[in-house]
Amino acid sequence: MTAYKSKMVERIHLPAREEREANLEAAGYNVFNLDSDSVFIDLLTDSGTGTMSDQQWAALIRGDESYAGARSFHNLESAVEDVMGFPYVVPAHQGRGAENILYGALVDEGDTVLNNTHFDTTRAHIANQGADPVDCPVPEARDLDAEGDFKGNFSIEEGRKVVEEVGAENVPAVVLTITNNSAAGQPVSVENTREVREFCDEIGATFVLDACRFAENAYFVTQREAEFTDSSVAEVAREQLSYADAAVMSGKKDGLSNIGGFVACNDETLFEQVKQRGILYEGFATYGGMSGRDIEALAVGLREAVEEAYIADRVGQVQYLGQLMAEEGLPVFQPIGGHAVYLDAGEFFPHIPAEEFPGQALVCELYREGGVRCVELGSFAFPDSDRPELVRMAVPRRTYHKEHIEHIVETAKEVWAHREEVTGLEITKEPEMKEIRHFTAELEPRA
Ligand code: F0G
Repeated sequence: MTAYKSKMVERIHLPAREEREANLEAAGYNVFNLDSDSVFIDLLTDSGTGTMSDQQWAALIRGDESYAGARSFHNLESAVEDVMGFPYVVPAHQGRGAENILYGALVDEGDTVLNNTHFDTTRAHIANQGADPVDCPVPEARDLDAEGDFKGNFSIEEGRKVVEEVGAENVPAVVLTITNNSAAGQPVSVENTREVREFCDEIGATFVLDACRFAENAYFVTQREAEFTDSSVAEVAREQLSYADAAVMSGKKDGLSNIGGFVACNDETLFEQVKQRGILYEGFATYGGMSGRDIEALAVGLREAVEEAYIADRVGQVQYLGQLMAEEGLPVFQPIGGHAVYLDAGEFFPHIPAEEFPGQALVCELYREGGVRCVELGSFAFPDSDRPELVRMAVPRRTYHKEHIEHIVETAKEVWAHREEVTGLEITKEPEMKEIRHFTAELEPRA
């Protein structure tokens, strides 16, 4: 049951099949090169692409654009304190800006940082410090079909092994990414969060929560963790965040805003260090690269993100999409995550080898068939890794309706029906940095 009605609409359009064919070819078979006007349903990301509420739009008008001491910043501080429980906040233009100012303060050259699974930008910022980002997911995170309520959890056992190898003094931080985006959006339990807290105390590391999707994670906890079935999402969010020393946040996800982010923490010394880096890289400490109106929208969005009706509707829609596809026999990663459904392109196209990018072939087919734009997270985006050939369908918040969801499922069914005819792709042009080639590389179908 939806908790919203529309007050403003945006026209979208499904181009004719010949146009979609031509668009794909002109884009070099890379959907990052498509104009958004030629996309019917855009599932490229759930980041900054959601719909703001009337309350957020109203708050925009109240934006205080003062360079220093802006009222809007104090509203953000109050929201972060009320919803997340942290007294200190340093604003940033988005999540990766927050990562830069936090990890630059915490991490030195030669260090090792542990994470349940590093998101791309997190990995890049740790590496940029000259440190080594190491993933410690639980084993079932890598298994598409494994059962498990909390496949996003951090493996303390793996973490211990790494600490034994590199020495606790070289591990300044342990990060827990909730939900675990790079492990199919799987949630992390509060129990595991407590274990990570103990582990950090044991090795003397700072405990950082990557809280981008903290509300979606809290919702799963209320559904799946026995201790919390009678708790509200807001209570669980506070509880889970209370174990961390600091949080790094992209407001573009569970801040329900189109831009923005921040670092929040409990410790005054860390706050001072991060604040100085914030001034250097993001902007003065009361705006951090955001306009006052963006800050207002984020402050309201954070509070809305833990409202029961919102979050049940949000996660429910993603589950609905995944369940419809699973019922049709399509290969979807189970259990379905909080912000996205992941398709296994390896199962769609067992005849396409990894070097011909089955995931990218699926992304192209989904656009060709129904104007649906998704993102490849397999051998095209992660060269030289043995990751499964996943395609992510990330659902923007409060944006699409049941009819759109049904169109996505119909599109995927059409592709499944002619899967044996689909051929692989080869790269015709790629940038120097292989790690980010999927954003701009061009390809063509193999003959
Ligand atoms: N951490 C996680 C877990 C993320 O998913 C993202 C962004 C970031 C940090 C960086 O935040 O984009 O505001 O700079 N994820 C987006 C995605 C881009 O599509 O999953 P940002």
